[in-house]
Amino acid sequence: MTILVTGGAGFIGSNFVIDWLESKDEPVINLDKLTYAGNLENLAGLQDDPRYAFVRGDIGDRPFIEILLQKHKPRALIHFAAESHVDRSIHGPDDFIQTNIVGTFNLLEAVRAYFSAMDEAGKSSFRFLHVSTDEVYGSLEVGAPAFSETHPYEPNSPYSASKASSDHLVRAYHHTYGLPVLTTNCSNNYGPYQFPEKLIPLMIVNALAGKSLPIYGDGMQIRDWLYVSDHCAAIRRVLDAGCLGETYNIGGWNEKPNREIVHAIIGLLDELRPRSDGISYGEQIATVADRPGHDRRYAIDASKIERELGWRPAETFVTGIRKTVLWYLEHPEWVGNVQSGAYRDWLEKNYAQRDK
Ligand SMILES: NC(=O)c1ccc[n+]([C@@H]2O[C@H](COP(=O)([O-])OP(=O)(O)OC[C@H]3O[C@@H](n4cnc5c(N)ncnc54)[C@H](O)[C@@H]3O)[C@@H](O)[C@H]2O)c1
Repeated sequence: MTILVTGGAGFIGSNFVIDWLESKDEPVINLDKLTYAGNLENLAGLQDDPRYAFVRGDIGDRPFIEILLQKHKPRALIHFAAESHVDRSIHGPDDFIQTNIVGTFNLLEAVRAYFSAMDEAGKSSFRFLHVSTDEVYGSLEVGAPAFSETHPYEPNSPYSASKASSDHLVRAYHHTYGLPVLTTNCSNNYGPYQFPEKLIPLMIVNALAGKSLPIYGDGMQIRDWLYVSDHCAAIRRVLDAGCLGETYNIGGWNEKPNREIVHAIIGLLDELRPRSDGISYGEQIATVADRPGHDRRYAIDASKIERELGWRPAETFVTGIRKTVLWYLEHPEWVGNVQSGAYRDWLEKNYAQRDK
């Protein structure tokens, strides 16, 4: 048995692949296009693991996906591949439409053909798990109840609109064609291997480099935060026991304004790696103009997955953020390679040699 993961060289995908092979013996095929967000260095530790294989390709390339499915015959597909950065979607939405909507559509079509040719035993065990976000639900007023799975879809950015669209396609393939799908909508993740364009790694990396710590507007945008290994465990649980066609919200029960996140990081850095001049990293905070259409609050009600599948996050924010800051402090080479762009040469350097 084998699973196929799309986007496994990205932040959550690479954590998932590592986590999967630590907890199971089942092989993983990682299909990734290696956009700027794909970093094979994250998976360097698996390079010689016979249970792991990397394939470079685009989810939008249907004939290629069809061949891949025929070759490896996965018993499940976990779909992480996406353009994922809201700011980038505001400056250039095209790639978001192509990958998140058209790419997911092509993937679904290839999987539909693969699934329909399976025998009954194969059909009954096959799963297509679509990884999505809480951002599809839109923005909440302070004090309003957290997003449940039945909250209306009200996406506000090109990113969230493209993810909402992919969620609808996945749902439709279940209802129309009987594809055995599962969808998860998760809150903001943080942890190792996150590209330093997102809030938490950006703050750590900028603080250490003596750069400013930019906070959008009043910094009171509220998000729910989940340590990435908890997200991976939740996906494994949904894959094992989720009800076909259902969606599951995944969250950390941990709503915090961005400003508080930044202060938590500053506190940890002041403790673990104090500035040589003895002044707090807080001095580097700079307020910048808010993002257009910035959602004020997301909050996830993750009680369904707890009630039905028995999953709850293992980490609190206090434990997860300390692990995260420590990971970035202990991996200056990873950070340096991402900042210099050297991570993009990793495939060339490490695989060219092996091909020979
Ligand atoms: N990061 C979060 O906080 C968060 C929260 C909830 C849900 N999600 C969802 O989880 C998934 C993974 O998020 P992430 O933060 O790891 O993203 P990421 O941007 O770090 O990684 C995305 C990966 O997908 C690959 N990719 C992009 N386009 C592709 C294509 N056309 N074909 C094949 N591969 C392609 C990239 O190379 C990269 O490796 C996304 O679907 C995202 O919407 C993310």
